[in-house]
Amino acid sequence: MAEHFTLVEAAKKIILDRRSIRDYTQEPVADEDLDLILEMGRQAPSGEDAQPWRFIIVKDPEARRKLGAIAGGGSGRRFTAEFVTQKMQERFANLKDEAKKKAAFEKLTSGSVSAFLAEAPVNVIVCGKKHVWDMPFDVSAAIENMLLMVAALGLGACWVIAPCIDIRDEERVKELFDMPEGYKAVSILSVGHPLRPHRPRPRLPIHELVFKEKFGQGYYNKPEEVKG
Ligand SMILES: Cc1cc2nc3c(=O)[nH]c(=O)nc-3n(C[C@H](O)[C@H](O)[C@H](O)COP(=O)(O)O)c2cc1C
Repeated sequence: MAEHFTLVEAAKKIILDRRSIRDYTQEPVADEDLDLILEMGRQAPSGEDAQPWRFIIVKDPEARRKLGAIAGGGSGRRFTAEFVTQKMQERFANLKDEAKKKAAFEKLTSGSVSAFLAEAPVNVIVCGKKHVWDMPFDVSAAIENMLLMVAALGLGACWVIAPCIDIRDEERVKELFDMPEGYKAVSILSVGHPLRPHRPRPRLPIHELVFKEKFGQGYYNKPEEVKG
């Protein structure tokens, strides 16, 4: 039986249902679904309506393999830096199981993280016009719009910045996909059919995030005042 939602319920459901999905089936993404996702990107707000986003759709397996390899390297280096500077140890301080902790550190620093891009049926390279004032914010709004439509369609996606963090990696992405000077590869969106449902990641409690009149003054004095 079809479910019926008010607009508020539907908006809330889509926002809460969206998860970063990193494992996909081999089922292709329908062209009309991809069109809808891209159209939602196009409709995003941007400073001065500059619309500095451009999207490259990558389905070719060899091109995805190359992107996955660059992404894996980027994540591996980022997490290695976090390990060397002790940031990772701080982040995992509450994990008491030493074997699990070691496995997590090894996985994160190995370069295998973010390489899943290669396995997603579609990679969308999100490019941004460099000399537009608000480009990173504009492009981020477009990405979030697309992620929400992905969730509404029952598809899965992940926002992957890994191949674009290091300027040398980003240059390789630009070269591989003939991106002109004047554009930056901002992030990749992997899109496909989720292999399995995903549990929500934790969020900080709202009473720690919202202030009244001055930073630091609780807006929600007690957690139980929060209505959701
Ligand atoms: C700016 C940005 C960059 C991200 N880059 C990566 C990435 O390179 N690799 C990855 O696996 N996930 C990446 N993610 C996904 C986050 O890890 C994920 O959003 C976060 O853990 C919360 O999980 P959720 O999206 O399921 O709520 C990125 C998310 C954002 C917003």
